[in-house]
Amino acid sequence: MFRILIVHGPNLNLLGEREPEVYGSTTLDDLNYEIARRAEKLNILVEFFQSNHEGALVDYLHANRKTADGLIINPGALTHYSYTLRDAIAAVQLPTMEVHLSDIHQREPFRRFSVTKEVCLGQFFGKGVMSYLEALDFLVAHLTGV
Ligand code: DQA
Repeated sequence: MFRILIVHGPNLNLLGEREPEVYGSTTLDDLNYEIARRAEKLNILVEFFQSNHEGALVDYLHANRKTADGLIINPGALTHYSYTLRDAIAAVQLPTMEVHLSDIHQREPFRRFSVTKEVCLGQFFGKGVMSYLEALDFLVAHLTGV
């Protein structure tokens, strides 16, 4: 059974109360619940992790690099400047999808560029919870070779 890591970066713990006009009213627990339901349908295991700390995210990827089959990550603002996280994603060599709730390409210019995207299989954005669900479908299709 595939084991996929679902990693949420800085400030995503405040989903639901944080800038609801941008990120909606869904909480992180609601989001994880929807992902878990999709995982059940796909018959895969998902493990959730959220941190506001770059180093904790790096440590988590390192610790799980040998036992996980894939990674879905919303790096939050680290997307736009963290070469540390970019290098960690490259180092652990897990098939990775980058996701964003909002449409980062239609917001402030600094959000358009992602330093992590190039070490990921792809980037899904702008669809809220669906960004994660589509990324999960994509990753499972990639892992099963369909
Ligand atoms: C985000 C977009 C980032 O620019 C922002 O810093 C976030 C959330 C998103 O999911 O839309 O924290 O990754």
